[in-house]
Amino acid sequence: MAYTVPKLTDYSAEALEKAVSECLAACEAEADEVRNSAELKLFRDRWMARKNGILTQINEVWLKGSPKDAKRDAGRQLNLIKEQVGQLVKAVKVPRVPPLTEDYWPNPTTTAPAWHGRPDLPRLCVEDEALIASQRVDVTLPGIRRPIGAEHPVIRTMHEIVGVFQKLGYSVAEGPVVETDYYNFEALNFPPNHPARDTQDTLFIAGQQSKPQRERLLLRTHTSPVQIRTMEKMRPPIRIVIPGTVHRNDPPDASHSPMFHQIEGLAVDTNITFGDLKGTLDHAMKALFGTSVKTHFRPSFFPFTEPSAELYVTCFICGGSGKRGPDPCRPCKQTGWIEVLGCGMVDPNVFEFVKDNGYDPKKVSGFAFGMGVDRLALLKYGVDDIQLFFQGDVRFLEQFG
Ligand code: DAH
Repeated sequence: MAYTVPKLTDYSAEALEKAVSECLAACEAEADEVRNSAELKLFRDRWMARKNGILTQINEVWLKGSPKDAKRDAGRQLNLIKEQVGQLVKAVKVPRVPPLTEDYWPNPTTTAPAWHGRPDLPRLCVEDEALIASQRVDVTLPGIRRPIGAEHPVIRTMHEIVGVFQKLGYSVAEGPVVETDYYNFEALNFPPNHPARDTQDTLFIAGQQSKPQRERLLLRTHTSPVQIRTMEKMRPPIRIVIPGTVHRNDPPDASHSPMFHQIEGLAVDTNITFGDLKGTLDHAMKALFGTSVKTHFRPSFFPFTEPSAELYVTCFICGGSGKRGPDPCRPCKQTGWIEVLGCGMVDPNVFEFVKDNGYDPKKVSGFAFGMGVDRLALLKYGVDDIQLFFQGDVRFLEQFG
């Protein structure tokens, strides 16, 4: 039975002492039962709450109801009880609710703490609530905005072009930027000392003179060497596109950069014809620039293709008229045509270098093409200086976000 304050009729010294010792025994017994901070709060309130705690009740029932001559004794006993109860409450030890550390939450092996809100556990005490409140996160506050990055315009253009060919069933291949003379030139039918090498403005790696020429290192001037590298690894038929960076000894200006980007294409199979080349590239240009563009092939020369051609599309700035209103169209130099890429049928001399891997020039044929990505990105986004692409100025780049 829980302790309740008895009414006193006998205010004799013994009777008072007995009542006091019963009261303290009850308090001590209850103190022993306290297990956690929630129970401690209940215990403390039951005994010490100003409004209706047991001490207040004793004050009311015993002191105020005592005869005049017993008041002093009763008052003394009451002070004794107050002090003892205060000490008993103070002496109760309960385990503290652990602080809310990060590893505290998700650990399923820790017993759920009192604040967890489980109905089978006692309610939180004031102390715990304050602790939780101090660590609470207001999920209704707006978060910290982090600007979302965007693809660089050159990379975006590259992805678009690669995407068009992937839909046609082409795979993506890549190769090294530091390349040997063999892959960059010799196996692409640029013999040593051939004047066609001069067109490539090559940046050579220093200190290579002691090596045989074909092993000397340079920065690749085009993505074409990956044609050979891929044919060495994969037997025909193949259809690949090769995106990548290339370098040439060009001083930087509004339309030149010593580093720029190319996408190469190569298709090899039996009976591949120039008709396949035209059909494929015409489709790709329409996919990239819109179905109304027209394509146009002009004869050209590359050592690794025969015949070779340059592909032009109707200017997607002026629509082919060569004019923008009353003004001349600058991107196409008023011709109405824009050169997009070099292409041609793979030269049989190139197949000779990979003949052993199934590329017998008498049995297979193929076409190849190579385009400069940066120039297309310049035209596409109406940017008038290629340097802007590589200076990393956020004020320029964020316009593409
Ligand atoms: N590699 C050439 C260049 O950078 C571009 C090129 C032309 C690539 C014709 C080709 C091709 O694959 O068939 O100037």
